[in-house]
Amino acid sequence: MTPIRYDEASRVFLLDTVSTSYAFAATGDGRQVRHIHWGPRVDLESAAAMALSTDAPHAVERITWGGEDPLEYTPWGGQRYDEPSLKVDFADGTRGIEWQVTGHRIERDEGDEGRTTLVLTLEDLAYPLTVDLCYRVFDDSDVIERWARLSNSGSDDPIVVRQALSANLWMPIERSWRLRYLQGGWGSEDQITETVLRPGRFVLESRRGTTSHEASPWFALDPCGEATEEHGAVYSGSLAWSGSWKIVLETTPGGRVHACAGLNDFDAPLLLAPGTELVLPVLAVLYSGAGHGGASRAWHAYQLGHVLSHAARTGGSPSFPARSGPARPEHARRASLVTRPEPGAGEEAVLPPLRPVLYNSWEATGFSVTEAGQTRLAELAAEMGVELFVVDDGWFTGRRDDHAALGDWVVDPTKFPNGLAPLAARVKDLGMGFGLWVEPEMVNPDSDLYRAHPDWTLHFANRSRTERRNQLVLNLARDDVAGWVFATLDRLLTEHEIDFVKWDMNRHLSEPGWPAETGHNPERVWLDYTRNLYAVLDGLRAAHPDVDIESCSGGGGRIDLGMLSRTEQVWTSDNTDALDRIAIQEGFSQAWPAQAMMAWVTDSPNPLTRRRLPLSFRFHVAMAGSLGIGGDLAEWSHEERTEARDLVALYKKIRPTVQHGRLYRLASTRQGPLGAVEYLGPGGYDVVVIAFSGPRPLRPWPSRIRLAGLDEAATYRDCDSGAETSGAVLTHLGLELPTALDATSMLVRLERL
Ligand code: GLA
Repeated sequence: MTPIRYDEASRVFLLDTVSTSYAFAATGDGRQVRHIHWGPRVDLESAAAMALSTDAPHAVERITWGGEDPLEYTPWGGQRYDEPSLKVDFADGTRGIEWQVTGHRIERDEGDEGRTTLVLTLEDLAYPLTVDLCYRVFDDSDVIERWARLSNSGSDDPIVVRQALSANLWMPIERSWRLRYLQGGWGSEDQITETVLRPGRFVLESRRGTTSHEASPWFALDPCGEATEEHGAVYSGSLAWSGSWKIVLETTPGGRVHACAGLNDFDAPLLLAPGTELVLPVLAVLYSGAGHGGASRAWHAYQLGHVLSHAARTGGSPSFPARSGPARPEHARRASLVTRPEPGAGEEAVLPPLRPVLYNSWEATGFSVTEAGQTRLAELAAEMGVELFVVDDGWFTGRRDDHAALGDWVVDPTKFPNGLAPLAARVKDLGMGFGLWVEPEMVNPDSDLYRAHPDWTLHFANRSRTERRNQLVLNLARDDVAGWVFATLDRLLTEHEIDFVKWDMNRHLSEPGWPAETGHNPERVWLDYTRNLYAVLDGLRAAHPDVDIESCSGGGGRIDLGMLSRTEQVWTSDNTDALDRIAIQEGFSQAWPAQAMMAWVTDSPNPLTRRRLPLSFRFHVAMAGSLGIGGDLAEWSHEERTEARDLVALYKKIRPTVQHGRLYRLASTRQGPLGAVEYLGPGGYDVVVIAFSGPRPLRPWPSRIRLAGLDEAATYRDCDSGAETSGAVLTHLGLELPTALDATSMLVRLERL
């Protein structure tokens, strides 16, 4: 049966995912599209019955001194006082929208991804505004992608778009709702935070021109605060946008909760010129009946199958639009640095290749990068089994510290007298890929680029240009600047044997001026900065399909579905202290998969926090994600390097399970002294359990931890000790834990017999 159906008699659209349904209907007069259901599966008959009861006269009128209609996409106009999805001005001064449904189409894409898209068209009754509401479902996921497309079909006047969100979502009627979201700051990203929604609006947002460390464009709501890790209903959303965004959670006077999300309207009216369209970013939404853990697993599977480095793997990502990226080639991914894993084949058909173990020199050398020093580190890294060697900041001309040279992307001849080629060749001889750090959106005032083009930065006339880390932001919204960034990186990647780019962004936007656009629409800088960023990334991916990209922004400042669809991985946080990482990683795992989560093992004491932790503890925490090493290896003892080599070898064994498996968060250090995660590999054969003591280890620690997702009738063998235990024992009694001491950790591998 087709996953999207339309019933003419009730005007109901019913979207079925693997285990959920989403339904809405056009009203009898075709003037509104009203939400009906989102949650467990319902049949078309039930959806039609719900549509008929909500379409009765006055069915949705409330004594709130205004209508309170649960609309799929709320046009501002009439007696509407809740958060609108869309607010526009027409040239003659009219500011409200009145529209009607004029058609729909359902498109089936039988390609690799098995996806079905519904486009429902609404047209203004008097003005040339057309809005397509788009919904996409996948054969193998409970995620629904929603977005909207606005068009000005006139030929004379622009339409001013004051607010245009991607989608509006109505929660079922419940006594109360609890919100979970991820907030933090530099070095403390992704802290899980919860609040009960009260009447009024709760806004999560970034006004920084980028995703931000301060909040993630992701949320999860559960009715009455009853969801637990593995039980209960969770309604979640994730926005595919790397510029300023907002998510509004509103409890209306009538007591209904709705969530709407999209581009931030702050300081951002947009002129929609005649004959043009604006495609809004995807809001991916998910209902899970299996608690926060179930929701996370569904998010992870969706991203592994349909988002991560998607454009590179499939030759296109139409639902994460860039503005004008060149057409992407239909190429196959190169053979990865590591081979594809293991049994259970079918499930992996579209999974991204496993990530190599990486070494990055930043914490070891800072800006003091030299050919000899990097070569020495590369040799030590290779001995440990590292597969990708990345030179961080400091390799380009004039870059002695963070005061100068951003923008001058030429190899420093004093540090690399023969260019990067000898180092890259040595790294490849050692069997590793070669990677390089760049921060292409930025410029130091002390640089040749700034001296030549001071007008290329964001700025207002007669106002300061505020520096952060001694740098300014290039106005990437300008096509000439974006073109220069593309050409510069294209040249760098063409002239050097580079396999991997760490793309950094070490400050947020300020003074978002664009003097040349004065009198036109300089505020579109907020939109076009990100659209051009996407276009540059897409263009580079097309031109250099073998180069992998990591998104970094002073740590985890730019992690979102828009970025993940164009990259292989993200830098989780500049804070590499393993104890701090436990909380950051638990937050990260709510929304994003382990494969994308870069986690380095660094020195002890940690350069940032000065905390000392055992090497095995630092490794175990990092092995819960995509493993990297970032310490000063020249300072590590022979014993430490030997232990590290063994742990890297162990990681390679568990890597397919961690990176492609299903995550169960067995215990949280937010709630007790023990944190533990379990990964169940594709097919359910391989199990990895990593347990670690949290910051307060001396509280009582349980003697066992119960595993999840196992076959109770099966027997599991410990890959190290050979001990055999039944799935029932592991599920109900649990796996035995060692006695907890300060910074205790353990890693257990089991295989199903
Ligand atoms: C940012 C990154 C670090 C490092 C430095 C280099 O802070 O998050 O990992 O690359 O920039 O300047």
